[in-house]
Order: sequence, then C-alpha cells, then structure tokens
Amino acid sequence: MPDPVDLRDLALAIAREVVPELRRRAGDVNVSATKSTATDLVTEVDCWAEEYIVARILDARPDDAVLAEEGAGVAGTSGVRWLVDPIDGTTNFVYKHPGFSVSIGIEVDNRPVAGVVIDPLLGDEFCAAHGQGTTRNGRPVWVNSVTDPAAALVATGFGYDPERRRQQAEALVTILPQVRDVRRVGGAALDLASVSCGRVDAYFEWGLSPWDCSAGSVLVTEAGGVITLFRTTASSSVSPVMVTEEEVSTNWPDDLIMLATNRDLTTPLTELLLEAGTLSGP
Ligand code: IPD
Ligand code: CA
Repeated sequence: MPDPVDLRDLALAIAREVVPELRRRAGDVNVSATKSTATDLVTEVDCWAEEYIVARILDARPDDAVLAEEGAGVAGTSGVRWLVDPIDGTTNFVYKHPGFSVSIGIEVDNRPVAGVVIDPLLGDEFCAAHGQGTTRNGRPVWVNSVTDPAAALVATGFGYDPERRRQQAEALVTILPQVRDVRRVGGAALDLASVSCGRVDAYFEWGLSPWDCSAGSVLVTEAGGVITLFRTTASSSVSPVMVTEEEVSTNWPDDLIMLATNRDLTTPLTELLLEAGTLSGP
C-alpha cells in the first residue's frame, strides 16, 4: 500500500501551487455557469484549479484514479483514488468571504487515508495521514472534548435544491434551541477542518458529495473525532440507518448524512438529528 504520508505530502505540494491564484482572484471573478440550480455557482477559476490539480496528480501518479467536482474523472489501476474539490465554498470565493478552500482527499482501496484542506484567505493548512494525526500549519490539533449537546457549537451546511433547503431549515427549528449555537460558514471541507481543530464541536450535513468531505473526514478521524454516515430512512423509523465509508466510496448515495464530532457527542447528536427529522429525509 502506498504510504499515506507520501500521498498527503504530494497533495499538500499540489494544493499549495494553486493557492496564490485563488487568493488573487477571490472576489474578482465572474460566475461562468451554474450547475444543479441557479445558486450552485462555477467560475473559470474553479475550472482552472481543477485542471491544474488533476494534471499534477496524474503526472506524479499516472495509475491513480481521480474524481473532481467540476467533472474530471479518471479511472485508475493502483487502488488509489484522489477526490478533488478545487474550490469548496465557491459562493464564498465569489464574494471573497472567508470559508472557501482547496480540498484534496485520498482513498486507498476505498478507505480515506489522507487529506489536505487549505484556506487561502486565513492562510491555514490542515493536513492528515492515516495513523499520523492532524496538523494545522504543522502543529497537531485535536477535536474538542465537550460532552453536553447543550454546550456544543454545531456547524452545518445547506444543499442547492430549494426543497432540500426548506427541510434543512425546518430541522434547525428543533436543533438550534438545544445546542449552544449553529454556524453556517459555507464550505464543508473547512467545516470538517473546524471540527478537527476544535473551532466548532460538531458538524452535520445532508446531501454532501464525495469531493466536499473526503479530505475533511480524514482530518476529523485523525484528530480523535468520529465520522458517522447515515442514509435517510422512512419517517416512522426510530433507528438511524448507518453506512460505512467503504460502502459509500463505491456507491455514493444522494441522501447521505454526515455527522462529525467527538466520541461522547456522537450518540446525543445522532438522537437530536433523529428528533429533528434530519435522518428521515423527505
Ligand atoms: C458546497 C459547500 C457548502 C455545502 C454544500 C456544498 P461548493 O460546496 O461545501 O458549504 O453546504 O453542500 O455543495 O459547491 O461550494 O463546492
Ligand atoms: Ca464542494
């Protein structure tokens, strides 16, 4: 198996190469297209960064597979797969609002083993490799040890589909009064990075894509946190339907819900998501 540390270091080197351009163009770019809905933006910089990153990966490791947000997809033979979000939080990027990042995750045999998330505006580099912990700008970081959901700062995100957004907002009516507060920064990769370094206590979102959360999920687990993956289930059900990282890697479900937090908060926050109807879906 390739060394996760070598994969992480390659991801970091490549991500660093696109960061100056992202910093330079933030807030100074036209929206070139929309994707799933009118609010799902793409700019020429998303496309440029993706092309650059994918070319660099394949140059260094021609037998690996790549899956990237703006459409690049390459099948590989090595068992290594790269999941690339060239700009996670594109809306923030368009406004030069903090909360966008470059996110590169790496799986070996369908298991996430390394991840890098760089925040160009704040200059934060989050890195993790299996068994090696998580670092922020080279220093080890850990998830928080809060045990009471009422004292938890909980991040979340909203999808682009208006009906799904309505349901996500409705769930917050139950969740918000029962936690310390809620944060919606607008970038899933940085939300997960925030859990890994204790900048928030938990993060959950319904409807993520693999490139949004691949790198961030390694940041969380290597920082001592727990990633729990659910499928939505019939609203009458009282028990959550859990799935594994390997299962979703080979067949990514549109209704996936991710919860990232510390070991002690996992059960109470799962119960809160159930009560809020988040695990019930439409
Ligand atoms: C989005 C962001 C957002 C999350 C959405 C993602 P994009 O990614 O991560 O925070 O709530 O689910 O799709 O489209 O800005 O790369
Ligand atoms: Ca994204």
